[in-house]
Amino acid sequence: MMLLLWISLYFLHVVEGQIGVTTCTDTSDCASLSNSLCDTIVTQTCMCVSSQGYTANAANDGCDYDCGSLSNPANGQVSAPTTTEGSTATYSCNSGFILVGGSARTCEASGWSGSEPTCQQVDCGSLSNPANGQVSSLATTEGSTATYSCNSGFMLVGDSTRTCEASGVWNGSEPTCQQVDCGSLSNPANGQVSSLATTEGSTATYSCNSGFMLVGDSTRTCEASGVWNGSEPTCQQVDCGSLSNPANGQVSFLATTEGSTATYSCNSGFMLVGDSTRTCEASGVWNGSEPTCQQEDCGSLSNPANGQVSAPATTEGSTATYSCNSCYTLVGDSTRTCEASGWSGSEPTCQQDSKADALVISTWLAVASTILVVAMF
Ligand SMILES: *[C@@H]1O[C@H](CO)[C@@H](O)[C@H](O)[C@H]1NC(C)=O
Ligand SMILES: *[C@@H]1O[C@H](CO)[C@@H](O)[C@H](O)[C@H]1NC(C)=O
Ligand SMILES: *[C@@H]1O[C@H](CO)[C@@H](O)[C@H](O)[C@H]1NC(C)=O
Repeated sequence: MMLLLWISLYFLHVVEGQIGVTTCTDTSDCASLSNSLCDTIVTQTCMCVSSQGYTANAANDGCDYDCGSLSNPANGQVSAPTTTEGSTATYSCNSGFILVGGSARTCEASGWSGSEPTCQQVDCGSLSNPANGQVSSLATTEGSTATYSCNSGFMLVGDSTRTCEASGVWNGSEPTCQQVDCGSLSNPANGQVSSLATTEGSTATYSCNSGFMLVGDSTRTCEASGVWNGSEPTCQQVDCGSLSNPANGQVSFLATTEGSTATYSCNSGFMLVGDSTRTCEASGVWNGSEPTCQQEDCGSLSNPANGQVSAPATTEGSTATYSCNSCYTLVGDSTRTCEASGWSGSEPTCQQDSKADALVISTWLAVASTILVVAMF
């Protein structure tokens, strides 16, 4: 009974290490089979040195070392379907963790090769600011996002955001901050554009050739987006438009473009009051203002000494008539006409009649001789 128990225990212990049915009677019989000994007591076959960790190999012609099972690393797993010599164990990490060290270990005669790798939290590390810009991120672990921005006057070219990938690397690549440049503008037809620079904040100023007027934006600014704001203006020929005739007169002009002159005149009997010429200015407006044609008037006449003048009207074509008091004779023009240049002729005079003069003298002589006669007596 005791013998039976011993035999079964012996078998349980060694059967796993039995190498086929290679029989032996002496230790030297198993020399060609690695890591085996001859069981001379019970089976008379070659057995693996199982007490030292050896088991029969797949081909059943020798014994391999068994490296034993491996334990999972923190935050990861190890997979080893077999653990005998030549087996491979493969390590992997949980999401968000990256394997540091070799991911595979091989079972060798001396045990598992290498050492257990570790699972470290994925960290893409900090990013450095690009020239003329900044990068910011709340964290640097897997899934974190880094955002780039550029200083004022600079425009981001490339990836504005990057994400920390499972591999521990930021995806995309570092963007660059390039100086904002709106590029040069071309001259409009019949005009010019000038700007000291084409970078952000620069101003471009348009002007038109003489005789042309700017219609639209006279200045444009280079915006942060690298585009000039507003739109290109046009240079339109200055035209003051035609003028209408004033009442009782005419206006004439050869052209209505800048620098053209309009000349006013009045109908006969009318006098121009105001600007007789007007010039079309660069602003597209005739300077001065429309004159008026007022009826000619020669003005009132004053009475001559010892006479009168009668002029019911004083406008052009009117007639003024002179007369003298009694005993006076009119010498000169008795009538004058109001002409465009004024009253015709000149003022007449009223001269005392010579008959009347003689009467005065004889009357005086008579008076004087009467006084003389009276005095003598
Ligand atoms: C980076 O990865 C994120 C998330 O997968 C994706 O949305 C983004 O387009 C990627 N960026 C680049 C530059 O590859
Ligand atoms: C362009 O931008 C400047 C500065 O912001 C502003 O003063 C100007 O009015 C803008 N011009 C147009 C045409 O939008
Ligand atoms: C109009 O402009 C012309 C040319 O500059 C000038 O000689 C003239 O005196 C101006 N006339 C008036 C009424 O302003």
